Formats: sequence, structure tokens, C-alpha cells
Amino acid sequence: MSGTVAERYDIKDINLAEDGRKRIAWAAREMPVLDLIRQRFEKEKPLAGVRMVACVHVTTETANLAYALRAGGADCAICASNPLSTQDDVTAALVADGFQVFAIKGEDEETYFKHIYQALDHKPHIVIDDGADVVSTIHKEKLDIAADMLGATEETTTGVIRMRAMEREGILQFPVVAVNDSDTKHFFDNRYGTGQSTIDGILRATNILIAGRVVVVSGYGWCGKGVAMRASGMGAKVVVTEVDAVRALEAAMDGFQVMPMDDAASIGDIFVTATGDIDVINKQHFAKMKDGAMVANAGHFDSEINLDSLAEMAKERKNLRPFVDEFKIDDDRGVIVLGEGRLINLAAAEGHPASVMDMSFANQAMAARFLAQEKGKLENIVYRVPEEIDQEIATLKLHAMGVKIDTLTPEQEHYLQSWQTGT
Ligand code: ADE
Repeated sequence: MSGTVAERYDIKDINLAEDGRKRIAWAAREMPVLDLIRQRFEKEKPLAGVRMVACVHVTTETANLAYALRAGGADCAICASNPLSTQDDVTAALVADGFQVFAIKGEDEETYFKHIYQALDHKPHIVIDDGADVVSTIHKEKLDIAADMLGATEETTTGVIRMRAMEREGILQFPVVAVNDSDTKHFFDNRYGTGQSTIDGILRATNILIAGRVVVVSGYGWCGKGVAMRASGMGAKVVVTEVDAVRALEAAMDGFQVMPMDDAASIGDIFVTATGDIDVINKQHFAKMKDGAMVANAGHFDSEINLDSLAEMAKERKNLRPFVDEFKIDDDRGVIVLGEGRLINLAAAEGHPASVMDMSFANQAMAARFLAQEKGKLENIVYRVPEEIDQEIATLKLHAMGVKIDTLTPEQEHYLQSWQTGT
């Protein structure tokens, strides 16, 4: 369903708006920090006159971010950061509320990029990116847009890695704020958010019992840690594969078995990739897998599981239920791919719960305000969200949760600043 030039959008079905509104309101109940920022933005209008493009997973939580940005004065166009993560009732609600939205769940790659171009026609001053597809498109194909930009913010580890590579090559055309690097983002969203929502995605897709299964988690960054912790909590025997010695050691001391994927391939029941790299599960691994082994991805891109090689090996591909496809390798052995190898939590479930997105998107809103406030003063490099904002978000979240903490006495404060006192 596409709008006219005046009402620009491309979404599945505007009639879903009422369902979307209800679910957005439900998420808002779990997003008190973002709501405080929205109220503050309403008074202070820190984004007055700022055109924005948000290329994010279009979910109920994202809608609440969009409302906060608009309250701050921003004029926002929205497109998807993944072809399978869009919630079509949410796009309908956003369009009904006057946003320009270009996103349809299940869109093909061509439509995905068409939607990015349509959003970029909005000529943004600030881009909120999730995976760096918009920022890289601007640098590769639409450099004219960069001239008027205040900067971009980046939501995810993969996107920050790409933007740091641009910074290293000296080609970054505007400042970037790495929202992912905030403590109130990655400690919570990447760990507890991915941990819970990845299991949620696997369960909604398959309805299998986790207890007693061998779950192989590839990558022991914050996302992998979260998945391993939650799978273990549900009774799985967790195996971790890693390339980094320190992380592997951490996984081993957290009580997980650590081994190369070549060894894990033959014993795993469920495989979850969370590395941010390509071909983590490859031809030689599929060749060793048990019949019925399931592979799912929790990383940003769908390149962690080499599905092309699996398709080449397979005699037959069969859809068993939504987001569940079996690739028959030989007569008595099939590998089951969940969510087409895309982010399983957003493909088959609803992504991270609102309570963690509350902090991630509070960081996004404050990062946008930072870029607007610091106009002309920043270099074309990758920044962190200022430390005091991170602390403030943590403080507000604790307050909302009703959790009180201690404060240092003046003596304790002094002690921490001094070096004279020892044994
Ligand atoms: N990334 C992971 N979960 C998300 C969600 N619920 N909304 C937006 N982005 C997400």
C-alpha cells in the first residue's frame, strides 16, 4: 500500500493501524525513561527543524522512539533495518499518525534498498542507523546528502564496527555517535534483550523443549553471553565456540563447554550464531550435523550461516511451518533453518522486550539531541554517548524500577581521590 507524494509511505496495510496503536501503547508502559525524555523534549524542543531518517527495526518500541523524537521537534522518516523485522501493524499506526514509513515485513532485498532510498529523499540532518546500511549508502551513492548532516547515531555492534572502519579509512563525512557503546545499551539490550528474545524467537518458531538439548552458541560477546545464559537457565547443555582467547576463557569459567565449531557441529541440537562475522556455520559443519539439527542466527546480518552452501548441498528444501525450513542433505538427514538465517528474535518473535529498548532508545534520543546541540563543534569521528547521559539513564531506570542505591560519604569520596592512605 503506497501513499501519494504528499503522504509518502510504503507499508503493508493501513487498516492494521488500530492493532498497532494498542501494541505501541502496551510497549510504552515498559518504557518510562524514554517517556521522561519525551516529556522533556516536548518542553525544550531540542530537535526543532531537524529532519531525521530512522533506519531501525520497525517495532512497537521504535514507534515510541519516533513519538519522542517528534515531541522534540524532529520531522522523521522511517525505514526498516532488516527485511524480516518489520511489524506491519506498527507501520500502519505510524503512517496513520503522520510519519513517512517505508517498510514491509518480508520485503525482498531490492525493496529493502528502495525503501532506504525513499527515506533518504527526506534529506535527513540526522540518521539513526542500525547496522550502518544508511550511512554506507550515503557514503557510497549519495554524498550530496552528507553536506547538510549533523551526524548519525548507530544502534548495533555490527554497525559500529563498519563506522569505525570508515573512520579509520578517513572517509567518514559526519560525526557518528555509537549508541551501542553506552553501558546502558550493550550491558542490557545485547545481553538480556538478545538472551531472552532469541530464545523467544526459537520457541515461537518451533515450540520445542529446550531442556536437555545441546545448544551451541557461536560468539561470546554480550549477545552470545545472553543466549548462553538463558539457554542454560532453561536446562540446555550449552557449548560455546569462540575465536577470542579471553572470551573463550570467560565462557569456560562461566561453566560452558568450549570447542571449535568443527567439533560442536556433530553434537549440537540447536545452533545460534552471534558473532557479527560471515560463514560461522559453513559447508563442512552442515556435513557433520545430526538429522534435525536446527540453526538460527542472532547476529545483525544473515551472513553468519552460509545458507548458499547449504542450499547447494541440499537435495530438497521444504517449509515445515512459518520460519522453519528443512534442507534435506541426504535421505535420512536434514538441517533445519529458522527465520531464514535472519535475526531470529525479530523474524519469528517481537524483538527485545520494551524494558531494555527503553534504555537503548533513551540513548538514541539523547544522542540525537547531542548531535543537534553540538552542531559545528564535532569532528567526523565516532563518539560515545557522553558518560553523564549514560549515568543519567541508569539512574532514571533504577528510579522507575523502584530500586534505591547508596551514595558515597564525603570521606569515601575523598579516599577514592587520594593515594596517601594504604596498609
Ligand atoms: N532490536 C532488537 N529488538 C528490538 C526492538 N524490539 N525494537 C527495535 N529494535 C530492536
